[in-house]
Amino acid sequence: MNVTIFGSGYVGLVTGACLAETGNQVVCVDIDHEKVSMLKRGQIPIYEPGLQEIVSRNIESGRLTFTTDAREGVEHGLFQFIAVGTPPNEDGSADFRYVMAVAETIGKYTDEYKVVVNKSTVPVGTAARVRAAIQGVLREREVDVDFDVTSNPEFLKEGAAVTDFMRPDRIIVGTDNPRTTELFRTLYDPFTRNRDRLITMDIESAELTKYAANAMLATKISFMNEIANMAEQVGADIEQVRLGIGADPRIGYHFIYPGCGFGGSCFPKDVKALIESASSQGHDMQLLRAVRDVNDRQKQVLFDKINRYYDGDLTDKVIAVWGLTFKPNTDDMREAPSLNLLNALWAAGAKVRAYDPVASENVNALFGERDDLFLADSAMEAVEGADALVLVTEWTEFRSPDFPGMHQSMKSPIIFDGRNVYEPDQMEKHGFKYFGIGRGLRI
Ligand SMILES: NC(=O)c1ccc[n+]([C@@H]2O[C@H](COP(=O)([O-])OP(=O)(O)OC[C@H]3O[C@@H](n4cnc5c(N)ncnc54)[C@H](O)[C@@H]3O)[C@@H](O)[C@H]2O)c1
Repeated sequence: MNVTIFGSGYVGLVTGACLAETGNQVVCVDIDHEKVSMLKRGQIPIYEPGLQEIVSRNIESGRLTFTTDAREGVEHGLFQFIAVGTPPNEDGSADFRYVMAVAETIGKYTDEYKVVVNKSTVPVGTAARVRAAIQGVLREREVDVDFDVTSNPEFLKEGAAVTDFMRPDRIIVGTDNPRTTELFRTLYDPFTRNRDRLITMDIESAELTKYAANAMLATKISFMNEIANMAEQVGADIEQVRLGIGADPRIGYHFIYPGCGFGGSCFPKDVKALIESASSQGHDMQLLRAVRDVNDRQKQVLFDKINRYYDGDLTDKVIAVWGLTFKPNTDDMREAPSLNLLNALWAAGAKVRAYDPVASENVNALFGERDDLFLADSAMEAVEGADALVLVTEWTEFRSPDFPGMHQSMKSPIIFDGRNVYEPDQMEKHGFKYFGIGRGLRI
């Protein structure tokens, strides 16, 4: 099938590459000229395991091409996927102007039947707005061209995006039209071979399903963080509690890890957008306001621990930071808890020696050269001469580092572990002062 994808970011590029991989003819359109020329050369602008191989293979086979020419994109695809960003407005609501810009572009150039697909995460009612926008442009052009607008929200996880897309838990299709259901079945058939994973529903329900999924996951994290903070008040160990509650199949072990707050381009913005969109309908999302507030507070927890340890005087302390991205296996820094930590450390007069396996370029772009930031080439280089180490992102390479070497190289052997990667007993044996999240009495 001929497929066009608007937006070549984390979602658009993975979608385009994976649909090309299963034999479709895919054109990816982006307004970012630099990104498109990189992609045309076969270089991918993001770090995402397995993506480079698929992109290269499909460019070579001629099934995957990139362009900035929107007309070419509209003319090409029966499917017109909209996978552009939906960043938050100042009040937290979703800014869907990029989605609407693509809708108008489709209206401008279409001259035969198209299935327009909202893959971006958009508030309920956006498909109706997209339809109205396309109709409006067609009226101005005084042409009558048939099209359907559908919702097909994306559930991939950065860091495992290719696997998630190739082997989805479910594919949600919101449609009001049986012919589009059939077209989607054909398009997604290669991804659902061992059992049917395609769930069709009305468009509004599909739009809400995406927000509900992210809000539920964010709720699990904030819940665990809340209990972890309680554990510190009473001298309990959250890791024991986690094992204890996860054993109940109604709760389960998935996604109940305490930590230093959730970040990324989705959870924070989607929780806020859902709160705002409910509020615009006169409904107060009390639970989700708490989820958001608990998370905002949790992102300060690491700094608060460090600051308390040093009695509020961090002037010229050298703090090593391991992991800067919002989670492992991605280079995405959007809303990462490390940003809160770094800014708080700098405001308190500390110096940072940071190491992340892939994010150096993005960190440089964010902060530029500054005297109080040294970006190390390795985890061991980061801890040299440090007063303390803070683990913020749980990259696999941090799981069992050379503790004796670190002990020798650090100025003082202190570890603040924002992801509970290490065991307090082990750390004590290695001679470190160790502070995790929710592991015994608060310091
Ligand atoms: N990143 C994720 O893990 C993830 C997962 C599921 C859903 N989503 C949702 O998918 C959407 C896209 O997210 P992302 O992380 O891929 O965003 P992104 O910021 O990585 O990429 C968006 C791309 O759209 C391009 N763009 C903007 N306007 C355009 C236009 N008019 N025509 C063509 N291209 C245009 C931008 O240049 C950019 O390359 C968002 O709504 C997001 O909430 C993201």
